[in-house]
This record gives sequence, C-alpha cells and structure tokens, in this order.
Amino acid sequence: MPIHTGRDIHALDVAQGDASVDRTSIYVYEAPLRAWHWINALALTILAVTGYFIGQPLPSVPGEASDASLMVAIREIHFITAYVLAIGWLVRIYWAFVGNPHSRQLFKLPFWRKSYWNGVVWEASWYAFLRKEPKKYVGHNPLAQFVMFTVFTVGMFFMIITGFALYSEGAGIDSWQYALFGWVFDIFPNSQAVHTWHRLGMWIFVTYVIVHVYAAVREDILSRQSMISTMISGERMFKDNRDD
Ligand code: HEM
Repeated sequence: MPIHTGRDIHALDVAQGDASVDRTSIYVYEAPLRAWHWINALALTILAVTGYFIGQPLPSVPGEASDASLMVAIREIHFITAYVLAIGWLVRIYWAFVGNPHSRQLFKLPFWRKSYWNGVVWEASWYAFLRKEPKKYVGHNPLAQFVMFTVFTVGMFFMIITGFALYSEGAGIDSWQYALFGWVFDIFPNSQAVHTWHRLGMWIFVTYVIVHVYAAVREDILSRQSMISTMISGERMFKDNRDD
C-alpha cells in the first residue's frame, strides 16, 4: 500500500512489502502546531457555548441589575477566549511559514491539480464505505484537506473578522478594532446581520467539530494509521496491511 506524501514531501523510505516491518512511524506535526490544535479546540468549545448564550440569553433574575452579572461574565469569557483564538491563529499562520511542509497544508487547496480531485472522490467513496482498502497519507487526505480549507480555515477568518467587527461596536469608532474591522459594516446591511452570520458560523463550526472528531476516530480504527495519538505525539504510525 503506497503512502501518499503530498507534493512537497520527499518520498519516504518505507519498507513496503517487507514482512519484517510491521510499523512505520513518521514525524508529522511539530510541537507548536500540536499545542495550537488543542488550545484552539478548547477555545472553540468555550466560544461556541458562551456565544450560544449571548444570542439566547438566560432568563433575567429578579433583584438589583448589578447583582445579575452572569451574562456579563459570559460575554467577558467570550471576549477573553476570542483573543486567545485570534492570537493563536496569528501564531498558526506564522508557523505555516517556518514549520515543516505539513504545517502549510491547512492553507492550501491544489485546485488546479486533477490528481488531487481524483483523490477527493476516492476518499469520499472510502468514507462512504464503498472501498475496502484505505489509502495512506502522511498529512491530511485530499478530502480532509478540502473540508479543512473551505470550512475551517475560511471559517476561522470569517469568525475572527466578524467577531472583532462586533466587538468594535462596543469599543468605539476610534478603537483599533473599528479601524481594522469597521469595513465589515459596509458589506453587511446592518449590525444584526453580522450577529446572525457570526451565529451561523458557530453552527457551522459545531457541525465541523462533530464531523472532524467522527472522521478522526473512524480513520484511527479503520485506516490502520494513527490519527488521534498523532496530534499528541506528532508521530504518524502506519500499521501493517497484511490480512493475516
Ligand atoms: C469560532 C469562534 C467563535 C464562535 C463559535 C463565536 C460564537 C458567537 C455567537 C454564537 C455569538 C452570538 C451571536 C448572536 O446571536 O448575536 C457571538 C457574539 C459575539 N462574538 Fe463571537 N464567536 C467566535 C469568535 C469571536 C471572536 C474571535 C470575537 C472577537 C472579539 C468574537 C466577538 C463576539 C462579539 C463582540 C459578540 C457580540 C456580543 C454581544 O452582542 O453582546 N467572537 N459569538
């Protein structure tokens, strides 16, 4: 079974067909990338929960308004986590320049390469249980790369841009947030529309996370190559392909 290495990765010296080799391990994800992945996963979870309640606030409680600070806390947590997410994203972009070739995959879509789209179709049929043998990739498979680019990467930019635009409404017209992101209100008809799209973005991310976790667990079990532990240790383990 060939291991697909992607365009910029050199062919790997894997002893295929050699019965004495049962495990091949390749270092894929460097430590900063792995740290970012888990911090980002936690930040996304906190943002989705707090964001949900910003849009669907809890019922107000009787008594002094100044005592009812739960919604204030929820918004504060949303904003602090938003900064963690945004700074983490800047670091992740920086890492795409200085990290190994795998660190760039999230930002690339080989749109004009026919073999890439053949790979996407092949993977779709594998995920649909129409294939018996998995293809093995050191980085992301073509379908995963497609979803990560179009949903995750584009989605991250969208949520950060719309989020800071909304934030600038509170920060004021002379804030740096408004200077950088105020143009968003020239595109959307009004502030409520930005809220609505930002909220829709949350549901897209929730769906993405469900599919992402399902695919990672499924591949870990079915494709005979490690997935979840790879994002902890950085090593991708290829298990042997023999049926005996
Ligand atoms: C993927 C990450 C994020 C998710 C899932 C998320 C989710 C949400 C949701 C669901 C809402 C409620 C929208 C509504 O119905 O009005 C919201 C509001 C908001 N978010 Fe986010 N958000 C994210 C990132 C950010 C970022 C990076 C910022 C930047 C500061 C931000 C700032 C805001 C602001 C200012 C509001 C409006 C608060 C208010 O009106 O009280 N969000 N967010």
